[in-house]
Amino acid sequence: MDQLKRQAAARALEEVRDGMQLGLGTGSTAKHFVELLGERVAAGLKVIGVPTSEATRADAERCGVPLTTLDEIDHLDITVDGADEIDPALNLIKGGGGALLREKIVAAASDRMIVIADDGKWVPTLGKFPLPVEVIPFGLGATRRAIEKAFAECGVSGQMAVRKAKDGHVFVTDGGHWIVDAQLGRIVDPPGLAKALSAIPGVVEHGLFIGLASSAVLAGGEGIRVIERRKPEGD
Ligand code: A5P
Repeated sequence: MDQLKRQAAARALEEVRDGMQLGLGTGSTAKHFVELLGERVAAGLKVIGVPTSEATRADAERCGVPLTTLDEIDHLDITVDGADEIDPALNLIKGGGGALLREKIVAAASDRMIVIADDGKWVPTLGKFPLPVEVIPFGLGATRRAIEKAFAECGVSGQMAVRKAKDGHVFVTDGGHWIVDAQLGRIVDPPGLAKALSAIPGVVEHGLFIGLASSAVLAGGEGIRVIERRKPEGD
């Protein structure tokens, strides 16, 4: 599995050119990309990266990848990031690692987002992976009820649980927020649900990435598949 993740990362690296400004994703697959990028930087490639988490910042520093922020530069050429699920429209569930907020800010500031994954992440319909919703701890009861209402309006339902860290304490994101994971099973209308969740006060961000991924690089037993997102008519 780890080999497949590294192969997907290596294929995405082929898209990187000298002088590019890159978004650096979070998770075990994105970590391979940062390591391979570090090798190219050591060999003379000139790039600069914006990390999507403190973990990725530490990895990039260890690998010698120069870093900047979205305050210092005005756009990114490519973001390379993993995903927890990818559907045929290249809608994603992200946030299994808890970095969804910075991941979405960085992806939205990028000309292109390349998703790298083993092909086990490819699903016909999103929702088997619990949907992460990043929330403000204040007023969480009210926020949870509003989330349940949004779910019902979008034709989904399921158990919700505040994410715990390995030590048993509540998991706290890099931004100081909490995450509620929702076991929805099957999300019939990802864009509709994304819109409904975004409208709830108390929801900082959610793990549905709609229309952000430009392409997906999927590594499997039979090799690498690159899937390009079809642009909506008239675009
Ligand atoms: C981090 O918050 C996530 O969005 C990751 O990108 C996602 O969980 C994929 O991680 P892996 O590459 O470790 O499966």
